[in-house]
Amino acid sequence: MDDDDDDVPQLSAHTLAALQEFYLEQQQREGTKTSQGFNQYSVGSIEENWQLSQFWYSDETASCLANEAIVAAGKGGRIACVSAPSVYQKLKEQDDKDFSVVILEYDRRFSVYGEEFIFYDYNNPLNLPENLLPHSFDIVIADPPYLSEECLQKTAETIRYLTKGKILLCTGAVMEEQAAKHLGVKICKFIPKHSRNLANEFRCYVNYASGLD
Ligand SMILES: C[S@@+](CC[C@H](N)C(=O)[O-])C[C@H]1O[C@@H](n2cnc3c(N)ncnc32)[C@H](O)[C@@H]1O
Repeated sequence: MDDDDDDVPQLSAHTLAALQEFYLEQQQREGTKTSQGFNQYSVGSIEENWQLSQFWYSDETASCLANEAIVAAGKGGRIACVSAPSVYQKLKEQDDKDFSVVILEYDRRFSVYGEEFIFYDYNNPLNLPENLLPHSFDIVIADPPYLSEECLQKTAETIRYLTKGKILLCTGAVMEEQAAKHLGVKICKFIPKHSRNLANEFRCYVNYASGLD
């Protein structure tokens, strides 16, 4: 036997089996999130379609908003992301935490997320599946597609229907007055950033004591 072999640390059969089991479980966990090394929940994994007014948050902003939602929703809380798919994706990256989340979206490409995807068109704000009960979400996060009062007013109908109380709205700074009028939300200090520079200034608005100030 080579002398060098004595220096190689040896694991007991028991430890080796436990380690193999750990790696197998880890692979299975990752396997539900990845396909050929691609994280299906990463922000930007579904490309922006400007025809649908899609402007994704920067990774940092999506994380901030997702963390805010988790804290606001509380343990075992329910979160609804309305026209805010990046926040949904960020939340799913942290799926080990104790919350549940749905994504209400017009773009059917997001149906890859299975039962958590709910088709949504703000033009029919209350045309929602029957199992989506009124006031059943601890927090609703919404980023309506257009900077118009009509779009905000209709999206606000959906938000008010879904929320138990807490609302986190992201939209243009120019919508401050209308946001207060339709949802009773106030502007936050936190400035959301997008992956591309936008001509319009965006802000977050809340109706509760949030971590965004
Ligand atoms: C300004 S983007 C907000 C996205 C957000 N910044 C993010 O990163 O998740 C508007 C969103 O509204 C969605 N949308 C477009 N048309 C819609 C419609 N008719 N009803 C509801 N949502 C719509 C877009 O697909 C997009 O996700």
